[in-house]
Amino acid sequence: MTRIAFFDTKPYDREFFEAATNRSGLELCFLDHRLSEATTVTAHGADAVCCFVNDRLDRAVLTQLRNANVRHVAMRCAGFNNIDLPAAKELGLTVTRVPAYSPHAVAEHTIALLQTLNRRIHRAHNRVREHNFSLAGLVGFDLHGRTAGIIGTGKIGRITAEILRGFGMRVLAFDPFPSTAWAAENRVTYVELRELFRESHVVSLHVPLTHDTHHFINADSLAQMRRDVYLVNTSRGKLVDTGALIAALKTSHVGGVALDVYEEEEGVFFEDLSGDVLADDELARLITFPNVLITSHQAFLTREALAEIARVTTENLHCLAHGCAFLDGTQLA
Ligand code: NAI
Repeated sequence: MTRIAFFDTKPYDREFFEAATNRSGLELCFLDHRLSEATTVTAHGADAVCCFVNDRLDRAVLTQLRNANVRHVAMRCAGFNNIDLPAAKELGLTVTRVPAYSPHAVAEHTIALLQTLNRRIHRAHNRVREHNFSLAGLVGFDLHGRTAGIIGTGKIGRITAEILRGFGMRVLAFDPFPSTAWAAENRVTYVELRELFRESHVVSLHVPLTHDTHHFINADSLAQMRRDVYLVNTSRGKLVDTGALIAALKTSHVGGVALDVYEEEEGVFFEDLSGDVLADDELARLITFPNVLITSHQAFLTREALAEIARVTTENLHCLAHGCAFLDGTQLA
């Protein structure tokens, strides 16, 4: 029997993983808390841990896991910025992830955020519920004919670009590894970053968080963007320097901001804190802007994505138990 400690699990994780693991041989132990140095002890007795975006997998935690005879860290997400991969390799831990579960889910949420913000759907909905049928303050703009700048044209960026082309937008893109055939087919134009910032009415981020992309959007890049730009981030919070973003919102240089991720989301996003005082002043300030829309890291949250995450992760956990090869593209260490 392979025993797996599942950290930071929510009811929807349990539902989809229980459905995917109806085979014998895997014993799932669902834990509500996140993995950190203080909680590693709860992995004792497990052969593998299954983690998510806000679990902490630094050298200290990985060392403790190794000492507890854990062999496998199965990330049930695409991003792996929260794990110290060199340390995992040194310690001989196997690390897998789910590289693509539904890029459509994230791309579609990107568009949902953009259009909700642009057409003030969230505000209109609240008004109508109060029997306030006034339209004052709800003026948006046509996407058709405007320019979108897609930063990162991997799986999610490309689908987002294609949807925006469907709205009749001109789409510019920036990626150090351009997909030229795809761009030609979809009439997307790769440009230098400076030109993308200067031209785009909407800038959308689809890059991984790495040492190089930390604070990719900062005071300097915001200053290069056109006045009234709409910024959408459904990738990782630390791509954006929140202080610089708030400053640009206060001067009205930025016209709108839609975020599914936030720089300091750990410990806040995914939790019900409605009865608590919000200790994060920058998040509290962001929430006060009428032209900022925030969802708490839910872009991936579709039935299709959850089923695929559970399928791929479970398959790899079985591979650990039976010594067979992990699914293509899933092994990081
Ligand atoms: P991907 O690996 O298919 O594509 C990433 C692209 O970014 C690649 O084409 C790469 O060349 C490009 N890139 C890397 N560094 C760059 C730079 N400095 N400037 C411009 N482009 C750069 O990744 P995918 O699947 O499209 O996911 C993108 C990101 O979306 C993930 O890294 C993850 O952080 C985020 N994500 C968010 C989710 C959510 O629920 N909000 C769910 C899944 C992913």
